[in-house]
Amino acid sequence: MLNKNSMIKMKQTNDKMTMITAYDYPSAKIAEQAETDMILVGDSLGMVVLGYDSTIPVTLEDMIHHGKAVRRGAGSTFVVVDMPFMSYHISLEGTLKNATQLFQETNAQALKLEGAGEVLEAIRRLTGGGIPVVGHLGLTPQSVHVLGGYKVQGKDEKAAKKLLEEAKEVERAGAMALVLECVPRQLAKLISEQLTIPTIGIGAGADCDGQVLVYHDLLKYGVERLPKFVKPYLNSSEQMAGAVRQYVSEVKDGLFPQEQHTFTMDTELLPKE
Ligand code: KIV
Ligand code: NA
Repeated sequence: MLNKNSMIKMKQTNDKMTMITAYDYPSAKIAEQAETDMILVGDSLGMVVLGYDSTIPVTLEDMIHHGKAVRRGAGSTFVVVDMPFMSYHISLEGTLKNATQLFQETNAQALKLEGAGEVLEAIRRLTGGGIPVVGHLGLTPQSVHVLGGYKVQGKDEKAAKKLLEEAKEVERAGAMALVLECVPRQLAKLISEQLTIPTIGIGAGADCDGQVLVYHDLLKYGVERLPKFVKPYLNSSEQMAGAVRQYVSEVKDGLFPQEQHTFTMDTELLPKE
């Protein structure tokens, strides 16, 4: 099983870390069988699985429910679970209580928290208490209404300096790795060079120490539009819709089921009237 030291070793030997999100038993099993280094139970489940238009409505109960299912499919793969919106902001006591419950009930290896600033104390206290933390900077979707939309972050000098400083603070607070979302590749490269812990990029270019993609995006499964940074490796929505359409038409046309899908019995055993 990975830990902070082995992750840092991977970074030092330029062994790219792979992460993919999963939200249930079958997606976790596929991620595990593909030998991905880490599975993220992302709060993106609010959008790709639950049909909300942001991650804001996702609750601690949602993360526990999906985290448990992922754990059952993930085998021995390292699982990271997102702490959802506002579950680590109201009070330190509340944060520790929520994190403990999420970590224990999902049996995860780490929790992921968005942001720096006020969140640094939470990163310190969780790590200190024995809960490994993955940080998340750049575009932090739980703050979409503060950031003013899903936009690339750190594009000018001032914003870039701030992001670099925050990345260092997240590392100093004890995080084991840092997700960088929607950051110019030049800045992601600089941050990756300056940190000891690995960076895991999404829309942050090839110089990060690892990459993460959303399961439904990489399979084009139930998502209409894909962001620029996604490469769809399959068009599963189209293939699935085609299969279901064929089933519907075969039933209508009497082509399904056929003999091989059917049970039989000795008709003499049928009740007689
Ligand atoms: O929720 C999520 O899927 C994430 C990744 C995009 C990093 O946080
Ligand atoms: Na997330």
